[in-house]
Order: sequence, then C-alpha cells, then structure tokens
Amino acid sequence: MTDPAQFVDEAVARLRAAIPGRAIIAASGGIDSTAAAILAQRAVGDRARAIFVDNGLLRDGEVARVRAFFDASGLHYEVRDAADRFFEALDGIVDPEEKRRRIGMTFIRLFETEADRFGTDRLIQGTIAPDWIESGGSLRDTIKTHHNVGGIPLDSRLTLVEPLRDLYKDEVRAVARALGIPEPERQPFPGPGLAVRVNGLVTPERVRRARVANRVVEEEVERAFRTGAMPRPWQYFAVLLPTRSVGVLGDNRVHGEAVSVRIVESSDAMTATAAAPPPAVLKTIAERITRELSGEVVRVLYDITDKPPATIEWE
Ligand code: XMP
Repeated sequence: MTDPAQFVDEAVARLRAAIPGRAIIAASGGIDSTAAAILAQRAVGDRARAIFVDNGLLRDGEVARVRAFFDASGLHYEVRDAADRFFEALDGIVDPEEKRRRIGMTFIRLFETEADRFGTDRLIQGTIAPDWIESGGSLRDTIKTHHNVGGIPLDSRLTLVEPLRDLYKDEVRAVARALGIPEPERQPFPGPGLAVRVNGLVTPERVRRARVANRVVEEEVERAFRTGAMPRPWQYFAVLLPTRSVGVLGDNRVHGEAVSVRIVESSDAMTATAAAPPPAVLKTIAERITRELSGEVVRVLYDITDKPPATIEWE
C-alpha cells in the first residue's frame, strides 16, 4: 500500500461490489475491525450492521470504552452480551488452540444468528496479513489459529469479506487515520481476549484476576510513558499463570496464583523485543497487583523473552 487515501477509495469500491445486499460486521473495538467497519459503512451505509459482542473476556471498562470509540469514529453499531455462552464453551478447556477454536466457533454461531436476523450471508471482518500468515496455510506452520481466521467452521453459511487482508498493522493505522478514526496508536488486543491471558482453566474468577492485573499494567505503563519514564511500548499486559506458589498475608501462609507481566516493542507483531522498563515501574506494578488481588496473586514475574523464540501472547 502506498497511499492510504487511494487504498480507502479502492477498498470502498471493492466492498460495494462484494456486498450486493446487506452485511454484518464483526466489530471487536480494535483498530482493524473498526477500520473495516467504517470502510463498509462508507461503501454501503446502513446496509452493513456492526455488532460488538461482549464475550465476558474483555478488559476492565472495555464495553464503555468501545462504545465511546465507535461513537467518536462515527460508527453505527449494536452490542450483544454473550458472556455466559463463551464461559460455557470454555468450560474445562486448557489447550490454547482448543480455546481459540471454541471461541471462534461461538463467535461464528452468534454471527450466523445475527446474519439470519438481518437477512444476509456476508460477514465483514478486520483480518490483517499477520492474522492469516500466522494461522498457517499450505506454506507455513500454524503458529496460532487467530479466532478471526481459523475459527470459521467449514459448514458455515457465512461468506467472509476481508477488506484489510493484505495490510500490516502500520498500514492499517495509516488507513485508520485517513478514515478519521481517533487514536489509531492504541495497543492491539487479541480477539479471544483475556482467555489467552489466562493460562489453564478459563473461569469467571480467573478472568477477573487477569482483568485486574491487565488494568494495573496498562495504568502503570501509560503513566510511565506520559511522564517520559519510558517510550510507549507496542503491547503491555499481564498473564495469569497456571501455577501456584507460597506467599504471606499478614501472619498467614497463602498458596496463591502468579502473574507474568509482558511489555514488548514491535513494529508489525511478526517479531518483538521484550522491553526493559525502569525497575521502579515494574516494582509498582508488582505491588499493586499483589495488593489489589491480595491473597489471590502472590507472585509477579517479568517476561524477558523476545519473539521469536516466544510469541507475544502466551497462548
Ligand atoms: P502472537 O502472540 O502470535 O501475536 O505473537 C501477534 C499479535 O497478534 C495478537 N493476537 C491476536 N489477534 N486474534 C487477534 O485478533 C487472535 O487470536 C490473536 N492472537 C494474538 C497479539 O496480541 C499480537 O499483537
């Protein structure tokens, strides 16, 4: 892509051709799907309906934030609360690929119902190049089945429309700016949400812990770059680990969970470097997580691994 404005014109023309009737848009609140949604609404107006699903795996305050973001972007949308369905689908599952498959399947079944109601078989998604490249194919191993690629069941009636398929993240950000979407520099958040930041069993209780830890990391890292203590990283988050260790709470022994903090620099998510944040930032993060999850999380680790050999998310 050379010129974002030219890309917008061409994408709108392609979308008009791809959507003869109506379409629904899977809008996650991220930059990719928001850009895809705005392109689709530019192309066919209210014949494209954006749906944001609250899957119960979102970050603290995310529904309100996404609503404000869509409003500021000029997107028309509807919200569906489906947390119970996702927790039911994830019950007893620890394998990361199986989690992704089940989340993808639950999303698709929901969107099939929505598509039936709206009278269409077209589903617009914000898939970008790294999503399908890392989801495998004939030439590459499957690194991760990103929910918006590998999760589509073969028997689905939906036809996918993916206007950003060939773009990388920095190009999507340029397109988002050209579309007047505010804050295109926000950090990426994976479609399967906190489920891939809860290693092991995904229960409402463990998701709540991951949600608190992720809020603390975001607040402290954002405070650090606002005050000039560190540059804005590509991504910064916390992962709840499937391990317990011994801690002290007052005079008592506790056997609590552990959290790993991950802060990485990257330009396209294909490779990444573990950041070296100031020790004071990490210390505040550890103090706050163990205080706000007192007795539940007793240990905080910092992940110093680059991608490769690791990936950015733990699962
Ligand atoms: P990994 O963990 O594979 O992540 O190094 C690369 C980038 O992709 C994000 N990510 C996802 N995004 N659906 C998404 O929409 C997914 O299933 C998914 N898994 C990872 C990750 O946060 C990073 O920015």
